[in-house]
Amino acid sequence: MRASLFIILFAFLLSIVHSEKKKTIYLIRHGETNFNTDPVPRVRGRINVPLNDEGIAHCRAAGEFLANEKIGKVYYSVIPRAKQSAECIVEKHNTKVEMVEEPLLIDISWGVYEGKTYQEAFGDEKGGDYMFHPEKLNIPEGETFYSVMNRLRLFFIKFWESDEEECTIVSHGAITNILSLMFLQAPLEKFWSMYMSACGVSKIQMKSIYSFTVEYWNANHFLKKDYNKPSFNFRDLLEKRHSARNFLDKPIPEDTLRNIIKDSLLSPSWCNSQPWNIYVSSGESLNKIRKEWIEKTSQNVKGYGDVSPGHRTDFSKRSQSTMQEFFNKEGMSEEKIKIFENAANDLFNAPTVIYLTLNKGHTVYSVYDLGGIGFAIMLAAKEHGVDSVVAYQLITYPDVIRKYVNIPNDEDIVIGIALGYENEEHFMNQYRSPKLNVDDVCKFTN
Ligand SMILES: Cc1cc2nc3c(=O)[nH]c(=O)nc-3n(C[C@H](O)[C@H](O)[C@H](O)COP(=O)(O)O)c2cc1C
Repeated sequence: MRASLFIILFAFLLSIVHSEKKKTIYLIRHGETNFNTDPVPRVRGRINVPLNDEGIAHCRAAGEFLANEKIGKVYYSVIPRAKQSAECIVEKHNTKVEMVEEPLLIDISWGVYEGKTYQEAFGDEKGGDYMFHPEKLNIPEGETFYSVMNRLRLFFIKFWESDEEECTIVSHGAITNILSLMFLQAPLEKFWSMYMSACGVSKIQMKSIYSFTVEYWNANHFLKKDYNKPSFNFRDLLEKRHSARNFLDKPIPEDTLRNIIKDSLLSPSWCNSQPWNIYVSSGESLNKIRKEWIEKTSQNVKGYGDVSPGHRTDFSKRSQSTMQEFFNKEGMSEEKIKIFENAANDLFNAPTVIYLTLNKGHTVYSVYDLGGIGFAIMLAAKEHGVDSVVAYQLITYPDVIRKYVNIPNDEDIVIGIALGYENEEHFMNQYRSPKLNVDDVCKFTN
């Protein structure tokens, strides 16, 4: 009798346990920015600082770490570095993931302290409170820790009441600290105890609006120190680079662009003259150029270059035959050829175009040097995860470029290189140009 009562009780408890609602939350702190690595770090809060190269690579690594997990919708804070992090994470996931901007997840406002060094903000007696009693901290024109907690609770209420079984939160250090206190029901003075590193990933089981279990916290073993180092050897890099003619609507961080140019500047040149001038156009300036480009090409306005390529019929025999070969390629319909020919009308939808110019009166060797740095830019770009196409079609209305990019009249705009993240699904980007063999072009003598 006793035994059967015990079994019934056990089954009853088991059924309660089984019916218990449970949801999974992945929590990720955004990737590194230059504010994190600055030798004199500054208080960020709501200031917009983009991810640096390392931050982007690390977010992609976090994305790979979670690629096969059910991560639900990705809710990110409205501050752009969180969105940028979320995009890198989602990009690596093996299923299509919905991203949702969530104002409740915004970083704490550090009010008048934002942009100041930590020494300037908390260097006096406030420093003690900042470290040990954040609950006592009065942030002028800022937000209180309790108001942050309240809005985070609102987020959990919404999530709990939704039919979602899991979700991912991409937010900021102060927010992940406060969340840790909520998960552990710990007092505010423990604010710093569960600090998450940039791109750290935590997994939490939610059992009610007030009850959480931390499955793991701040996993970051996937952030190998050399993650951002070239993943290709040189031959790979050469093979992976190809002309991409349709790019995603995704800007390239300025840091990445700077690093690409910095690498390319190692190129050789005649007497080390380094004759190139480099103009990088993105954002508004490029959009204005793009708009006029679309207008002019749609009206068939004849283009011209500062440097003439000659007429099509004057192109070398090899240029003409490779062009012909391309047009005759199997599966290349009239319609597809048209798309190829018109791909540059909107500047290939690239987020950035680099214009390479030479001072007028340049010699043929300056042109040689410019070709060298052009190729270096494309290879460096690929190494930084950025695709490219070099194109004369990008410079056929030099007056339009001059209007929005400050290029003086005594420089020739010789070539443009469009940079961006290729749309891998676009048929134009799946095409690979055939290359000649060594013996087709090279004669060895001993
Ligand atoms: C100086 C130069 C000008 C080019 N102009 C164009 C162009 O106007 N439009 C275009 O789609 N591709 C242009 N290209 C890209 C070539 O078509 C491409 O490099 C070639 O077909 C080899 O393909 P790959 O880059 O994929 O190896 C140009 C390349 C060079 C070097």
